[in-house]
Amino acid sequence: MQRTTVKQALAAEAPIPEILIQGWVRTRRDAKGFSFVEVNDGTCLKGIQVIVDAALPDYAHIDKVNTGAAVSVKGELVESKGKGQKWEVIARSLEVVGATDATYPLQKKGHSLEFLREIAHLRPRSNLFGAVFRVRSRLAWAIHQFFQERGFVYIHTPIITASDCEGAGELFRVTTLDPENPPRTDDGRVDFSRDFFARPTYLTVSGQLEAEVFACALSNVYTFGPTFRAENSNTSRHASEFWMIEPEMAFCNLEGDMDLAEDFVKSLIRDILENCAGDLEIFSRFVDKTLLERLRFVVERPFQRCSYAEAIEILEKSGKRFEFPIAWGANLQSEHERYLTEEHFKCPVTVYNYPREIKPFYMRLNDDGRTVAAMDVLVPGIGEIVGGSQREERLEVLRANMRDHGLDEADYAWYLDLRRWGTVPHAGFGLGFERMLMFVTGMGNIRDVIPFARTPGHCAF
Ligand code: 4AD
Ligand code: MG
Repeated sequence: MQRTTVKQALAAEAPIPEILIQGWVRTRRDAKGFSFVEVNDGTCLKGIQVIVDAALPDYAHIDKVNTGAAVSVKGELVESKGKGQKWEVIARSLEVVGATDATYPLQKKGHSLEFLREIAHLRPRSNLFGAVFRVRSRLAWAIHQFFQERGFVYIHTPIITASDCEGAGELFRVTTLDPENPPRTDDGRVDFSRDFFARPTYLTVSGQLEAEVFACALSNVYTFGPTFRAENSNTSRHASEFWMIEPEMAFCNLEGDMDLAEDFVKSLIRDILENCAGDLEIFSRFVDKTLLERLRFVVERPFQRCSYAEAIEILEKSGKRFEFPIAWGANLQSEHERYLTEEHFKCPVTVYNYPREIKPFYMRLNDDGRTVAAMDVLVPGIGEIVGGSQREERLEVLRANMRDHGLDEADYAWYLDLRRWGTVPHAGFGLGFERMLMFVTGMGNIRDVIPFARTPGHCAF
């Protein structure tokens, strides 16, 4: 007999005389002459109620039908007389496939997110985390759909790389050298020319540079993959391993880049509102009561735009005492970003034209000579969710930029070649997948929207 998922069963349009439901017991309640068992199989937030009559032979082992046990139920799907559900299953047989016991950590009572993080191998079985990971899956699908519908080509950029795209030095080294006894050069330094790739290599912080190669051939492309940063930031918004979506467009300037980023963020929210309504319910009930209101607001209203210079002026005039003082030339810290989006504009805001000194080597120098064509999209509750720019397409300006950033041209010869032959204005951005997921679910910590979080000092599972 073929299995029916709980999601399918709950969406039934008519009773089903013979049905097979398989899942995990959430609760069992015993009444006189029968028991109610709620079975959840992770296909949707809700479980299905199963009624097990005490007259069934299988009722003999009903005491094994405990929270967390895996069960296989055959029976009839009938309209429920009880409140709260349309359908329920009258069991004809109930097999305990995998038993459990009282030590099972996920009992009915609510658990703290901190505790659930320690049992990341079991938390997908909770209602909340089941919902998080179903939304994560849908969001990934919506991202591909957005770009594929617009003719963008999906590029798999490498995970092991020799370049530091962001130039922040936050790289995880990839090596097979013996850490106890590495080969050394004559002057005593580790000889990476004898390493696996015959040069120093790292896990990528961004697929952008390679995406640029493909944009300068296929016009509109995107990457969507894991990226790695060895930055020692212990915040609720930073992970050492996170996923990033990076579109790159040829014949595109900063304006077009901002248009795409805003359209992208809105489209994703719209998709989740339409397709994850059932799961969003648990977030708006238990995580953030204003979630749906905020998501609808963001979809309906245009994003604000303001230059970095205007942002600095707003912050200086705010009268707020920030932990990090702010003035032209300083990086916007999370507190500044959140003031702009949460208190000043009270909506998402795109800040553009940042000082060149605080941005990576590849950003296009503006005519003023002191700013670059960079942009960040900031959203309430999170701050920066997108970072992007128009790229420097002029060979000589790029070389000067690289010199200023202390980069060796020899390491980026291929990147410079793009400017040597058939160069073209192009632009792109990176959206942090987990930050977007935090925004659409209201979850406050990045550790709770990725299956197994990697953060400084933590790499369990
Ligand atoms: O602003 P970032 O560093 O930009 C880049 O990497 C560019 N190469 C992107 C591009 O233009 N193609 O990172 C982009 C986004 C940030 O806005 C943020 O959402 C996310 O990636 N991000 C992180 N998310 C989680 N944990 C971290 N440690 C993150 N660092 C950046
Ligand atoms: Mg950034």
